[in-house]
Amino acid sequence: MNIIRRRGWEIPESQLTPEHLAFNRRKLLIGGAAAMALSPVALSPVAAQAQRVTDVATLPDPTADLYPAKLNAKYKLDRPITDEKVNGNYNNFYEFGEQKTIASTAQALNTRPWTIKIDGMVEKPFEIGIDDLIRKMGIEERTYRHRCVEAWSMAIAWSGFPLAKLVELAKPLGSAKYLEMKTFMDPKVAFGQKKSWYPWPYTEGLTMAEASNELAFLATGAYGHPIAKQHGAPIRLAVPWKYGFKSVKSINHFTFTDKQPKTYWEALQASEYGFWANVNPAVPHPRWSQADEEIIGTGERKPTLLFNGYGEFVADIYKGLEKERLWA
Ligand code: MTE
Repeated sequence: MNIIRRRGWEIPESQLTPEHLAFNRRKLLIGGAAAMALSPVALSPVAAQAQRVTDVATLPDPTADLYPAKLNAKYKLDRPITDEKVNGNYNNFYEFGEQKTIASTAQALNTRPWTIKIDGMVEKPFEIGIDDLIRKMGIEERTYRHRCVEAWSMAIAWSGFPLAKLVELAKPLGSAKYLEMKTFMDPKVAFGQKKSWYPWPYTEGLTMAEASNELAFLATGAYGHPIAKQHGAPIRLAVPWKYGFKSVKSINHFTFTDKQPKTYWEALQASEYGFWANVNPAVPHPRWSQADEEIIGTGERKPTLLFNGYGEFVADIYKGLEKERLWA
């Protein structure tokens, strides 16, 4: 079993608390973190709930017949795909806890029925069920690298469809400048959402140029089958040239807007996390270097690449935006 060294924001919760105090509500957070430190008892109702939904959770996924999807070989990896078990047990999904081992509690998430809302600056707002959406879009497989801002990385075989196809389906108005994406909100299931000091629901955003870039991908599957809950079932974003926190999980709401979305981590800690969050090894996080990364599962360290190695696809988007805070 590979022992993963903690660093950055994956430090134990007892030490994590002071870092997050920077965004006010100091007393609340101390109380919350203290409760979490004694968490086995606090977690048990969620585990019980996970048990109760087992029947639903084990029903066959209505789109299972679409997997494995045909590989689109255009997007190449420079390393082996991370072992599925390793990846599926080392996750960030704050709705289910701040630690990496949220896989079992995330099983409480009920992913059917799942309705996607598309609204804002579009010709006509609408809602669509996830299975209809997936069948309408069709799916392909892509292998992408994933670089977390915590300086670790993985390589994943996602299945899904380009975000650009959803943009096309949505028919945004010419005046739309950004696409905002939100995670479901259900504190009864996602106990993390009861922690009021976090700016729920998890929100992310891209400019229209980013959302329409060929690399921006909506993943509905991974490792040749429907996506596991801990990875953000039934649909999550994968934008591999950006730090991992941009890749919002379990999305149920897309809004086209002319205002730059206030994203989750920016709302939480603007001094450390911004809107753009493009990978750049030359720009350190305020608390640690971004020069290299640990490959989860092997422990190997590799130098981090500008745009996580995807510059040929995305660098042009940022021409003329050099004054923006593109790298945090
Ligand atoms: N989306 C939601 N809704 N909640 C989260 O906590 N964490 C982000 C991103 N998307 C997160 C999220 C971060 S920090 C990372 S690194 C990736 O999800 C982790 O994805 P993985 O667990 O599939 O590796």
